[in-house]
Amino acid sequence: MKLTQEQKAFVEDLLSRMTLDEKIGQMNQESPSIVGGFDVPFSELIEMMTDGRISQEEFGRIMSTAKQDFHEDDIRAGLVGSQMVNDPRQNNALQKIAVEESRLGIPLIIGFDVIHGFRSVFPIAIGEACSFDDALFEETAHMAAAESRAHGINWNFAPMIDAARDSRWGRVSEGPGEDPLLGSRFARAKIRGLQNDRSSALNYVAACTKHYVAYGACESGRDYNTTSMSVSNLYNVYLPAFRAAMEEGAATVMAAFNDLNGVPCTVNRWLLRDILKKEFGLDGFVVSDANAIRECVIHGIAEDDADAGVQAALAGMDMDMGTHIYKDCLKAAVEQGTVPMAVIDEAVRRILSVKVWLGLFENPYVPEELIEAYEKGLPAEHVALCRKAAEESVVLLKNEGNLLPIKRGQKISLVGKLAGDANEVCGAWAMAWKPEDCVSIQKGLEAAGAEVKYYPCGGPEGEIDFSEVDRAARDCDVIVAVVGETCAMSGEASSKADISLPGGQRAMLQALLASGKPVVTVLMNGRPLALGWEAENLPVILEAWHLGIRMGDAVASVLLGDVNPSGKLSSSFPSVTGQCPVYYNHPSTGRPGSKSKFTSRYLDAPWDSLFPFGHGLSYTTFAYDNLVVTENPDALEISVSLKNTGGREGTEVVQLYMQDVSASLVRPVKELKDYQRVTLAPGEEKTVSFTLPKAAMGFYDNAGQYRLENGLFRIFAGGSSRDCLMQEIRLAF
Ligand code: BGC
Repeated sequence: MKLTQEQKAFVEDLLSRMTLDEKIGQMNQESPSIVGGFDVPFSELIEMMTDGRISQEEFGRIMSTAKQDFHEDDIRAGLVGSQMVNDPRQNNALQKIAVEESRLGIPLIIGFDVIHGFRSVFPIAIGEACSFDDALFEETAHMAAAESRAHGINWNFAPMIDAARDSRWGRVSEGPGEDPLLGSRFARAKIRGLQNDRSSALNYVAACTKHYVAYGACESGRDYNTTSMSVSNLYNVYLPAFRAAMEEGAATVMAAFNDLNGVPCTVNRWLLRDILKKEFGLDGFVVSDANAIRECVIHGIAEDDADAGVQAALAGMDMDMGTHIYKDCLKAAVEQGTVPMAVIDEAVRRILSVKVWLGLFENPYVPEELIEAYEKGLPAEHVALCRKAAEESVVLLKNEGNLLPIKRGQKISLVGKLAGDANEVCGAWAMAWKPEDCVSIQKGLEAAGAEVKYYPCGGPEGEIDFSEVDRAARDCDVIVAVVGETCAMSGEASSKADISLPGGQRAMLQALLASGKPVVTVLMNGRPLALGWEAENLPVILEAWHLGIRMGDAVASVLLGDVNPSGKLSSSFPSVTGQCPVYYNHPSTGRPGSKSKFTSRYLDAPWDSLFPFGHGLSYTTFAYDNLVVTENPDALEISVSLKNTGGREGTEVVQLYMQDVSASLVRPVKELKDYQRVTLAPGEEKTVSFTLPKAAMGFYDNAGQYRLENGLFRIFAGGSSRDCLMQEIRLAF
């Protein structure tokens, strides 16, 4: 996000004309409060919907009848810098007050949680990341930007790029998985997609990378819990995606709820000022997470609201989401000299700069024609991209006896409540979908012309109807059982202590298996599940996440073989919950897990993941051969030959890993360094080449310094983090 000299001068001129109240107003974000009949804050209402206490329909009903306070008087008085609303006409009305009725006419920056699409809902991020397709990541973000801007939203609270290795944490669903390199490439592509199309004022938004930082490392996977870690771990695992996002020009950052090594991120000067703003060069601004400034009092780091506000402002927190603490307390702090005016000016300069860069002064409104166009329905190319993204995100975990694809004409019994419920396809943090756009697996199979009969039988919640299960198993050639989690079981505040299949679903699968009919299992879920029993007993497992509005079409095309699956896991799956956190790139121990007792293992569970990062099968097979590593002055040139050894065209994600075999700090057993999607016809062979810059082969130490250390390296290439060819090379940098 760069401004021209002229734009910078515009910001300075505006700043010089603002009163202290107006400046602090820019640092204040409001969301509408529901007043009258339903008296809870809007953020609470949204939470009630996302955690399932009220349905989306109920939410819609409340919103259409409840009276909302949009804080128009405060906007008019210049006391509001940002709003959180997703109604385009309401947004136009609020902008009109800001632009035409406030003294300085500064437009609002309007933020919203557009996490994996807006009305066009794409797969949840942990699923989309399984495509390893940077072009897709960018395209879906671009479409989300255009759709949200058409609703008057110019600031998306995305991408969520928290590295996450403990699947008990419900928010693993929102991010790109466990790996820092995949996370960084995802972050870059998302920023490009959201921000870079300047061909029209309505094609881009400001990104908000979140949650800064280490939120995914919350102890025991419990949301909002404490985090502590070494500086080197922070720099090598949790910061890279943020560094990449800043290099790509991300306009804003949202701080995380958690404390890191004892200091809440909200008031963490080292994280906000030293690393984010100075070292990574953030040009835009930092916003707190919802109510997080007030939570510093509950954290026990501030005595009261005013103290929390002062600490946050001094630490470099530019905007307060939702507490009014800046609005209520900062003026006195400035007048008393506790917060220097320069701190306020810096925050306001950053916020105004983003507004100028967004073109809000020239284009604050959404044209009515655009609003009407979207009201008519989703354009066909949006629907097509939803389907493509969903198809690429499916991961075939197991396909014993090549039961898949199902042959046309085979009689299918489709089982499981999730299979028929179009309200369950979008996943956590999808807030703008319309029921008429959503396709359940049942509808998808029917539309694809499959011979299918549907038996709900039961799902993640409630009882299983075993007599219906019996009926389902009787009259068919193959059973497709759809099991997993509801949308409300992942996302914010949805941590779980047991991540095996919830409810009676395993018993349902057992009953289906006992029938002797072939059982194809499709998973709909927001996190890696503990699937030890399932992997041992079920012949086929297809991981389908929450794939978004076209989930049903995508799953049907994979089940019926019209699409050959190509997804690879973005996170490792455990056998049992007690293995969490389990991830492929763990530091080497002195006693790696093995059959021997005194090694890093469990008495009652495997030491390694069940399905590792990077794993994913195809309807064809691929063979790797001839890994060659050569050195030039600046990089390693690596090539590997890949052959399609099966009977149909397929796409393979070729993965490049390395290991720094001996270093001054313990390094991971393997680290992803690059990847490529390669499509081959049956029998076709190709040499796949990578250039690995030597500068990318180092690591950060405990002073946050990057080190390139001479010595032995292992280079791996293969189709998963577990299954690779290997070559060694000794390097002197
Ligand atoms: C979440 C954020 C979200 C914000 C605004 C918070 O509860 O942690 O991810 O952007 O609410 O809705």
